[in-house]
Amino acid sequence: MSLLQVKDVTYAYGSHHLFGKKNQREKVLSNVSLSIGEGECLGLLGMSGAGKSTLGKVILGLEKPQKGQVLFKGHDLYSTDRNTRKQLRRDLQVVFQDCYSAVNPKMTVEQIIGEPLQNYERMSVNEQEQTIEQLLERVGLNREDMGKYPHQFSGGQLQRINIARAIALKPKLIVLDEAVSSLDMVNQTNILSLLRELKSVYGLSYLFITHDIKAAYSISDSMAVMENGEVVEQCNNKTEFLHSAHPAVKTLISSILPEHPRYRSLLQKPNGEEIL
Ligand SMILES: Nc1ncnc2c1ncn2[C@@H]1O[C@H](COP(=O)(O)OP(=O)(O)O)[C@@H](O)[C@H]1O
Ligand SMILES: [Mg+2]
Repeated sequence: MSLLQVKDVTYAYGSHHLFGKKNQREKVLSNVSLSIGEGECLGLLGMSGAGKSTLGKVILGLEKPQKGQVLFKGHDLYSTDRNTRKQLRRDLQVVFQDCYSAVNPKMTVEQIIGEPLQNYERMSVNEQEQTIEQLLERVGLNREDMGKYPHQFSGGQLQRINIARAIALKPKLIVLDEAVSSLDMVNQTNILSLLRELKSVYGLSYLFITHDIKAAYSISDSMAVMENGEVVEQCNNKTEFLHSAHPAVKTLISSILPEHPRYRSLLQKPNGEEIL
């Protein structure tokens, strides 16, 4: 059984009466289905406006679809009882692109990472402090950072704090919505390798949402592409994905191929360096 199964999800903003109403809103998601297994990373690609973030919110239990189901650990997120839903939510975390707006600027790092622990765990003050120290070290920061505020960190460091908060409850699935997209290349590479490490240490699953095929390819096991609210291509194996005949995939790949026609059919630069 998959950890997450999205089945035939249709969603439109601002309307709970999608069908049979005169002023129907436009569908942002149409019959979307996908699944993620335990320990698996699904790269979800697509241009801006394709519906990726909306799908992320539906999966996080934040936007109820008008049609279809989101099954997480075998439970329907939107029809299960409140208690089960709260327990499911602890296993379902998120890291957004904008690391600064994801945190309260008036809270210290200790408070930011401590928030999910306080919501779900009954720890003593000492236990919580130790856990936060370990989490900071796990993401490459120091215990001295506990008392600092968000503005005292760079974007890359703050994204590490957001990741520490996301893993604090040892979740099963993390939705990474353009989580490395606003970072410079060096930070992107470092955060991607941190995410890979955490995935293998904790057996995490990721939904890695991005418009960047290179970033997706470097971390994902399987890949999917969205266009206009639909999943138009899905491959369980990322190498298969590279050879997909779907025009959306071809466009994504050609955007990163070398300029020179001689090398365009190869996934290698003239100097032999791998493109993906
Ligand atoms: N809160 C919202 N209210 C109404 N429409 C929205 C909202 N958020 C996104 N949309 C619309 O939904 C569509 C998909 O957006 P989004 O899911 O953010 O795409 P992506 O993440 O792929 O860029 C876009 O047309 C966008 O304008
Ligand atoms: Mg988005």
